[in-house]
Amino acid sequence: MIFLCCLLYANLVVAQNIKSTVSEKEHFVSGLMKRMTLEEKVGQLWQVAGGFATGPDGSNLGSLKVIAEGRIGSVLNVSGVKNIRKYQEAAMQSRLKIPLIFGMDVIHGFRTGFPIPLGEAASFDLALIQKGARWTGTAAAAAGLNWTFAPMVDIGWDARWGRVLEGAGEDPFYGSQVAVARVKGLQGDNLSNTNTIMACVKHFAGYGAPIAGKDYNSVDMSMGHFANFYMPPYKAAAEAGAATFMSAFNDFNNIPSTANPFLLRKLLKEKWNFKGFVVSDWGSVGELINHRVAADKKEAAIKAISAGLDMEMVSNCYFENLVDLVKEKKVSIKVVDDAVRRILNKKFELGLFEDPFRYCDENREKETVESASSREIARSISERSIVLLKKSDNILPFRKDLNSIALIGPLAKSKKDMCGAWSTANVNNVITLYEAMKNRGVEVNYAEGYDLGNNKIVNYDSTLSAVEKSDVVVVAIGERASESGEMRSKTDISIAAQQQELVSRLIKTGKPVVVLLMCGRPVIFNEVRDKAPNILLTWWLGSEAGPAICNVLWGDYIPSGKLPMTFPRNMGQVPINYQYKSTGRPYPGDWAAKYIDSPVEPAYPFGYGQSYTSFKYSNLKLISDNLGKGVHAKISVDVTNIGQYDGEEVVQLYIRDEAASVTRPVKELKGFKKIKLKKGMTQTVVFDIRDDQLGFYDNNINFVVEKGDFTIMVGGDSENLNKTLFSLK
Ligand code: GLC
Repeated sequence: MIFLCCLLYANLVVAQNIKSTVSEKEHFVSGLMKRMTLEEKVGQLWQVAGGFATGPDGSNLGSLKVIAEGRIGSVLNVSGVKNIRKYQEAAMQSRLKIPLIFGMDVIHGFRTGFPIPLGEAASFDLALIQKGARWTGTAAAAAGLNWTFAPMVDIGWDARWGRVLEGAGEDPFYGSQVAVARVKGLQGDNLSNTNTIMACVKHFAGYGAPIAGKDYNSVDMSMGHFANFYMPPYKAAAEAGAATFMSAFNDFNNIPSTANPFLLRKLLKEKWNFKGFVVSDWGSVGELINHRVAADKKEAAIKAISAGLDMEMVSNCYFENLVDLVKEKKVSIKVVDDAVRRILNKKFELGLFEDPFRYCDENREKETVESASSREIARSISERSIVLLKKSDNILPFRKDLNSIALIGPLAKSKKDMCGAWSTANVNNVITLYEAMKNRGVEVNYAEGYDLGNNKIVNYDSTLSAVEKSDVVVVAIGERASESGEMRSKTDISIAAQQQELVSRLIKTGKPVVVLLMCGRPVIFNEVRDKAPNILLTWWLGSEAGPAICNVLWGDYIPSGKLPMTFPRNMGQVPINYQYKSTGRPYPGDWAAKYIDSPVEPAYPFGYGQSYTSFKYSNLKLISDNLGKGVHAKISVDVTNIGQYDGEEVVQLYIRDEAASVTRPVKELKGFKKIKLKKGMTQTVVFDIRDDQLGFYDNNINFVVEKGDFTIMVGGDSENLNKTLFSLK
């Protein structure tokens, strides 16, 4: 009894503390707002670029004077304690000394580069992904930042769109879980801690589905399609407590996201009760004019602020017009106050009113940024991001006493291209594959193989001589870092023909060949895929790319990655994903949804990835007794490591709704567990079956669960699956 009383009291105290903090924040912010002029309020709604530009029309901070006048709320693209202190000192000269918040795209690591987010997602290791975000947030905060424009949670089915590299791939269930892991990692438990930063969920909404895969292009879809396939990660991130959202460049069902009242007010702020603030993307308020929904900056300001866009990044429609618009009663002061309050609340939560320089500690910056331990976490994530696509001989893993390697391809020596897009990495400290191989003490006979500029085969004789004097060949092909990312849509995602031709020639030499595929998106490489005996997808792995790849080549780490996006066989299949609908004439069949000039199957399916060992699935069964609250059934399956190495397997659960009131995908990922299994061992893996895995959103965005039959599927990828039936009564 005493224990219960103590527990009750403790909960009461915590609740009181939270309540008191909230009322303390409300009291402080309300008091401050009462003292603010309209000009100072509008100033809080403007974010200017202090350093480099990450969009058109360059950085717009002429001088610190406007900051000292209290007319700017935030600065982006400045980092480093010394730099940030300078801007904050200017803000402290303003009448009310309202601190600035500093944002930057810290997307995968900070100064120590981590794998690109799509590569990290291939780890299917949520704890590791959260840990990586925790490290990223810690390092960014140590460098004076309070805010990162991450995670990007846009679902992508279309690899023509270069920004798939920034997200977690094609699946809304997995994308939601990765979004939550990244938000929690970045924000930690308390934004006022000096090792946490605000997350920014982007790009709201639907940016990953541009028509024709062309960046910035229009997005148009039914509400049911949006709600089931694109909305979930945004919703999950909001529910996880993300501090901010960023509006997308694209128009969404004919209305630009940046001035879309359905998205920003009705869905985000009302239905999801989001208390943070929304920042535009770079210049996207001003771009309402280009969208031709605003005649000028004045109208752009009215539309955006009325729709719920709180802070304008870089363009200055608010700065130039909002004061007049309020005075002319064309914009209500209530709308402005709501935006200001949201922003000031976050500055309060960050602890910046208490101490505007709390993130400006040069000693902490020196100890934290690019620390040795940041490299260890980078290497760990990088190893787990690598996907073994093919293994058809016994050359992998390399023997420890391997004498010599012919290492072919300039990507094996390129520090810059290992960083990928949106990188803050210190390029000089990237360890390339060439350097890492040399560090292992093996004889490395390097040859360029192809020109990285034009992808043409060069100096083939020197390539041949390197091959002749080596035991094995490792050839690195793929994309340059400049080929994927923003403004990097492609009409053809094939790997350059001559790179593939070079691989074919290397295979013809008869030496064992391992192909490393370095890229930022799903790519097409059918000639290599058919002929090469061994293929590892290494994405762009960042600062520890070389050591991580070597650890996998030599089996110090057994590859465990799985594809977070489908790899198409040809361009005609794009966009492609595994959650297609049955249609009235399901494939296979004569009269069926298919092509006459290509198989419908992809080159590699979602969730696919091999290991140096092998796993057998057996004994799949439905358990319907001793269930927990809300659990309709349990699924259990035995997984056995039948190979020669200890390894890890991502056991995947897919569900198919056999009959519903609307058409449903042929299968959907609704659970996964990454398990470690010593060779010869068996583990029984159990999944719960609950409403949230069985239901779907209707066209009014209401989540519905319908009774009926479901097929439950379990396996190591989205195609090779064991099945059983479950009926929801
Ligand atoms: C860019 C990107 C966005 C980024 C922002 C600030 O244009 O679209 O993802 O966060 O501008 O750099």
